[in-house]
Amino acid sequence: ARTRRYSFNVTMATVARLCVTKSVPTVNGRFPGPKLVVREGDTLVIRVTNNINNNVTFHWHGVRQLRSGWADGPAYITQCPIRPGGSYVYRFTVTGQRGTLWWHAHFSWLRATLYGPLVILPPRGVAYPFPKPHRELPLLLGEWFNADPEAVIKQALQTGGGPNVSDAYTFNGLPGPTYNCSSSNDTFKLRVRPGKTYLLRLINAALNDELFFGVANHTLTVVQADASYVKPFAATALVISPGQTMDVLLTAAANPSSRSFAIAVAPYTNTVGTFDNTTAVAVLEYGAASSPPQTAAALRSLPLPSLPAYNDTGAVANFSANFRSLASAQYPARVPRTVDRHFFFAVGLGADPCQSPVNGTCQGPNNTRFAASMNNVSFVMPKTSLLQAHYQRRYNGVLTANFPAAPRTPFNYTGTPPNNTFVTHGTRVVPLRFNTTVEVVLQDTSILGAESHPLHLHGYDFYVVGTGFGNYDAGNDTAKYNLVDPVQRNTISVPTAGWVAIRFVADNPGVWIMHCHLDVHLSWGLSMAWLVNDGPLPNQKLPPPPSDIPMCS
Ligand code: C2O
Repeated sequence: ARTRRYSFNVTMATVARLCVTKSVPTVNGRFPGPKLVVREGDTLVIRVTNNINNNVTFHWHGVRQLRSGWADGPAYITQCPIRPGGSYVYRFTVTGQRGTLWWHAHFSWLRATLYGPLVILPPRGVAYPFPKPHRELPLLLGEWFNADPEAVIKQALQTGGGPNVSDAYTFNGLPGPTYNCSSSNDTFKLRVRPGKTYLLRLINAALNDELFFGVANHTLTVVQADASYVKPFAATALVISPGQTMDVLLTAAANPSSRSFAIAVAPYTNTVGTFDNTTAVAVLEYGAASSPPQTAAALRSLPLPSLPAYNDTGAVANFSANFRSLASAQYPARVPRTVDRHFFFAVGLGADPCQSPVNGTCQGPNNTRFAASMNNVSFVMPKTSLLQAHYQRRYNGVLTANFPAAPRTPFNYTGTPPNNTFVTHGTRVVPLRFNTTVEVVLQDTSILGAESHPLHLHGYDFYVVGTGFGNYDAGNDTAKYNLVDPVQRNTISVPTAGWVAIRFVADNPGVWIMHCHLDVHLSWGLSMAWLVNDGPLPNQKLPPPPSDIPMCS
């Protein structure tokens, strides 16, 4: 195992997309940011220097951070932000994970441009559990805003309404030919050779959209999700939620019927309000790089792969049902069979009363302000880092240890919503003893409209043991759990008008946020945190913070 050192200089750089040229936050002047390639077991040392006029932190999405919670990165959870001119060194070891993860800023909406891939190769001499591809490459799906994303969320929080949607979906930062003003230079091209197999490391880095993904005339084979291998399965349309990663094999045709094929993404949503229903396109291109480039018009006319309709929840459920962990001798599934503590979280939107300083009207439903919650608690970001408060055992005025294990008053979660949609507020956490086995049933609610929520847990992978539509029914549903080969993930979509059950063992001491990876919902408070206490042994304790950890005041 090696130590790999990187420096991340956060700096403004000029980027031109969709006929808009503007200055955006970047890492080392690049958008998207640099690709980190490591081997399992390696230690990463990343020195971040903040040279923009805003706070910043970085999160290594999906990295387990065993006893290295100080490097996890969510602002005000595991650290205070790195202030303009400041720096901080993230130091952590990658253990027990292989495949694709990613990194992104974890302050406000800065991750719109501050993100990049984190590729974890097997230890030297260990092969993939699938045939070695001819070539492999990351494919980051993102969203581009012509406006400043910071201004977009600020305005939404001020007016209480929904934020403006992005202007384009992107492939490795490029919007492609279906948007006005884009040239063929704005199109991501994947050049392939007939008969060869390619490993695409897909990452959904979009702020607010779950996405369908497909390649015209080509079948994809899914082999990995969230840095855990899965039993390979074939699909023509994938669904990938913000935060999730998926490695897929694509075999180029031996005798392609055309020079180019469309690679497409389109949104999956049931969201209330507006969304961008554009299908964005990149190109799979056969032939030599020297072939003359095609015009944007020619690329625009490529036949699209057939993707499900924007609201096809059935297609999403069918796709999700394919995921199984390898559960082999070499890659065993360690699914907890018994549970120490059961939790039931009702997840969804809600509202706050209108208290507009502007003119007494709010742009949320019925003159309210949009909010979001779990068990009716909308998370309030503290003013200082929860992990620091925990390390010093100074909880007063920072957090309360009373996040509810279930809703106070159960209701018909997927039926007619209750009259009062107002949420409560607090920085509430669930304390857990070290090594507690936890089950959480995440139940979508139809308050202000049923919609799916990609829930991401920091510091852990969890097994997805069950899922279904309607209201979770402990009596019948538990018996149908898959405890043999459930998929292991760090981000799972709570299905629209349905539920999903996850299990994990709380073996990583620290404070770990669990939140919706739609940034708008995170901004509205769809978040909570687990406070996992130290175990009795020396190697079960959270070490002291690095000496350069940023302070809040
Ligand atoms: Cu990828 Cu808390 O986030």
